[in-house]
Amino acid sequence: MLEKSAPAFAFGENWARFLTSLSDAQIEEATRAVSTLVGRDLRDTTFLDIGSGSGLSSLAARRLGARVRSFDYDAQSVACTQELRQRFFPGDDAWTVAQGSVLDQPFLATLGQFDIVYSWGVLHHTGQMWHAIENAARLVRPGGLFIIGIYNFRGGRRGTAAWARLKRWYCTAPRYVVASRCDRLAGWLSVRSRHARRDPGIREAEIQLRTDKTKHQPASGRQ
Ligand SMILES: C[S@@+](CC[C@H](N)C(=O)[O-])C[C@H]1O[C@@H](n2cnc3c(N)ncnc32)[C@H](O)[C@@H]1O
Repeated sequence: MLEKSAPAFAFGENWARFLTSLSDAQIEEATRAVSTLVGRDLRDTTFLDIGSGSGLSSLAARRLGARVRSFDYDAQSVACTQELRQRFFPGDDAWTVAQGSVLDQPFLATLGQFDIVYSWGVLHHTGQMWHAIENAARLVRPGGLFIIGIYNFRGGRRGTAAWARLKRWYCTAPRYVVASRCDRLAGWLSVRSRHARRDPGIREAEIQLRTDKTKHQPASGRQ
C-alpha cells in the first residue's frame, strides 16, 4: 500500500495527467525506444528502473519480456507506475513497484543486482548526482548494462547549480516541509534566480535552508 501522506513533487501530478491521455502509439514508441537503447534481447533479463516516473519505460521493458523492478522517490510517480502495471500486467509477479530513493543505502541493499539498471532523466534530480550514479552503478551485476540519461550542464543564475540545490533539499529535508513547501520553493527558487542580485536577503534565506540539520529519511521498499 502507498502511504497517502508521502511527499508530492510536481512530477507526480504530471504523471497523473499523463495517465488519462496515454495512447497505444506512445506505448509502442516507448517499447521501441527501450529496445533500441538496450540493444539486446530483454527476455528473461532483470531490469531495474530507477526513478520510474510514469512507469512507461518499465512497462516497455516488461512488454519486451524483462522481469522488472521499478522504484521512485515520489509517491505519486509510484502510484502512476502501479496504475500502468495494474492496467497492462494485473497480478504479474514479474513486475514489482516500490517507493524508495537511489540515495537510501538500506533500501538499495534490499534490491540485489540486475542485468540492466536503467535510470532515465533521474540522477541529476537527486541533488547528489555523482553519489546517485555510484549507488545506481553498484546495482548492475557483473557483465550487466548500466543505462542512464542525465541532462547537460546549464550555466547562468537559473542553471544547474540552482536546481541542484533545490533537488538536494528535496531529498534531505524533513518530510512535513517537503510535502507542504516543495512546489512553492520551486517557484521561489526561480524567482530567487531572477532577483538574487537585487535582494541579498534571499541568499541568507537559502543558507538557512541548507543548514537545517534535521535529515529526512526517504521511505524505503513500500509497495
Ligand atoms: C524527469 S522524471 C523521469 C521519469 C522517468 N524515468 C522517465 O523517463 O519518464 C524524474 C524522476 O526521478 C524521480 N526521483 C527524483 N529523485 C529521486 C531519488 N532520489 N530516487 C529515486 N527517484 C527519484 C522523480 O520522482 C521523478 O519521477
